[in-house]
Amino acid sequence: MSPPKLAGKNAVVTGPTSGIGRATALALAGAGARVILVARSSEKCATVAQRLRDVGGPEPITIIADLSLLSEAKRAADEILAIDLPIDVLINNAGVVNRHRILTSEGLEQTMAVNYFAPFAMTLKLLPALRRAERARIVNVTSNSYAIARLDFDDLTFERRYWMLGPYSASKLGNIYFTRELARRLEGTDITVNATHPGLIFTNLGLGNNSHFAKKLIGAIWGLFAKDESEGHTCVFWAATSPELEGVSGKYIADSKVTAPKPIARRDEIARRLWEVSESTTGVRWEAV
Ligand SMILES: NC(=O)c1ccc[n+]([C@@H]2O[C@H](COP(=O)([O-])OP(=O)(O)OC[C@H]3O[C@@H](n4cnc5c(N)ncnc54)[C@H](OP(=O)(O)O)[C@@H]3O)[C@@H](O)[C@H]2O)c1
Repeated sequence: MSPPKLAGKNAVVTGPTSGIGRATALALAGAGARVILVARSSEKCATVAQRLRDVGGPEPITIIADLSLLSEAKRAADEILAIDLPIDVLINNAGVVNRHRILTSEGLEQTMAVNYFAPFAMTLKLLPALRRAERARIVNVTSNSYAIARLDFDDLTFERRYWMLGPYSASKLGNIYFTRELARRLEGTDITVNATHPGLIFTNLGLGNNSHFAKKLIGAIWGLFAKDESEGHTCVFWAATSPELEGVSGKYIADSKVTAPKPIARRDEIARRLWEVSESTTGVRWEAV
């Protein structure tokens, strides 16, 4: 019998306790990768860790962090570095969408903090461990909602105008800008980075604050056109492992196809400006690897 395809590889997955992240963690473990789970709930993380053992994966490693706080995202990255393993795959998946505006204790709007600033900070900090792997891949989980985003540099906390998809779509546009600018900076290294839209998957996204009844109702409607969670990993796993994507970097991948994003996501001067703002917001700066 041939060994599992990812035997000996180490993969970090943020947000592995539900939806796309959980499906991806299971697929990676099933293929033989050691998964480093970064989650905010130790209870949920323990349940997922058991499922990873059940599919025959190597003993998972768990890191507990609330990624809405930069201090925690940076600590999580430090803890991963302290494990002292090369990182072959980094899946920046954790995400949130909130009906009402929430400011974190660090003064960031929560959606932007979890979906955009945390992956920026964690990824930059993890570059030395990614550099140690042979051809490491970073996958930033974005969404096709980037296309409706308005990124207002004077109001990145959405104080002036808040609606559910405002910061969500802006954070997802930010994920694509980050991907493009990071790919440019990583040119000449073995590390690649791509952004993926996983398709419409029925998960817990946006259901957090709803009543049981509302969840059932939304679930029934979603179920009509969204794919089941068990298929949620397909595009992300493909981006992380497909031989077809060897050396491919800085791309937008939707439904397992490399696709040109809409012009709004190709404004590289805005990507560079956002990078500068992100460095000063997170306090994590680019260092050539
Ligand atoms: N579902 C879709 O159709 C769809 C479409 C396009 C893009 N996406 C993207 O896919 C990614 C995963 O979303 P999903 O649909 O799988 O949603 P989900 O089921 O709600 O999963 C989100 C994951 O992120 C974690 N998370 C949220 N806030 C966190 C925080 N403060 N600290 C640490 N972890 C946190 C959640 O942890 P808990 O379990 O503790 O809540 C959960 O593990 C997101 O980036 C989303 O934007 C989803």
